[in-house]
Amino acid sequence: MDVNKQTITKCVIPAAGLGTRLRPATKIQPKEMLPVGRKPTIQYVVEEAIAAGLKSILIITGRTKRAIADHFDLDFVTGKPIEGELDYEKLGVRFFFVRQAQQMGLADAVSHAEAFVGGEPFVVCLGDTIIGEPEPATLLKRLVDTHVRRGASATVAAERVRPQDVSKYGILKPLSRVGDEFQLADLIEKPAPEHAPSRLAIASRYAFNATIFDAIRAVKANPPGKGGEYQLTDAMRELLSNGDGMWAVRLAANEKRYDIGNYESYYKAFVELSLQDPEFGDSVRRHLKALLAGNRGR
Ligand code: UTP
Repeated sequence: MDVNKQTITKCVIPAAGLGTRLRPATKIQPKEMLPVGRKPTIQYVVEEAIAAGLKSILIITGRTKRAIADHFDLDFVTGKPIEGELDYEKLGVRFFFVRQAQQMGLADAVSHAEAFVGGEPFVVCLGDTIIGEPEPATLLKRLVDTHVRRGASATVAAERVRPQDVSKYGILKPLSRVGDEFQLADLIEKPAPEHAPSRLAIASRYAFNATIFDAIRAVKANPPGKGGEYQLTDAMRELLSNGDGMWAVRLAANEKRYDIGNYESYYKAFVELSLQDPEFGDSVRRHLKALLAGNRGR
């Protein structure tokens, strides 16, 4: 069977990380459950996957993460979804959960999806990052389309970041001209600015063929990479060294990545998405304007 002719239906959401940058908020609760406006972050991620047609969802959890599984249950009193939730059952969405026993990095987290994936291509959406876009899941749909059409072994979303921020991300080295989609020559995890091959960072969304699991095994045969963790970018480099094609899809000008993994970007995400609240957005906007103008606001 040609794996790249298959439609992708499976989504893996890693949500087991310790979230140390958000302590004490994450001392005993998952960062993926921190609300951004009315919904916990991971609910946005799940809704994005569903909007892209991905109906089998595996969430990788771990220590202090039990609230995530509870959140996707029906209301325990009425047995129905509550207001502001999709009717997952009606939509044919199925949730699966697996625990990462020790937080050994993103590659290790993804390795826990092998049985779930069953040899099919799949998508990975990081559970601590929301994609803001005018229409739901347009980025994810383009990512899947490029992955299938290009016959890639891996495809990532790409976003241009500030030069001083390249050391926080997996950075891409393009092989072809950088258009809406482009082929990759290499990728480097958290490079120093002077060693960064571009300012294009991996933007929390990936599509993989099941060959990624062999690549992760190869990486785990060696000592951990940067930060004492098994890095997904190292496993992707392993695929590249086998001569596999790897592609990237750029975020459009009206698409935005909200990473809630540190307080600065969490605050910005909360404020920005609160302004879109249909009931209170306008009132919050007026309040912020008054505060910024030096008034106390109400
Ligand atoms: P981060 O790179 O933000 O790491 O994870 P972290 O450990 O959660 O946070 P800090 O650095 O301690 O503050 C990106 C995504 O990958 C998941 C996280 O849950 C998050 O959604 N992840 C990370 C795992 O599932 N397992 C890991 O071992 C590491």
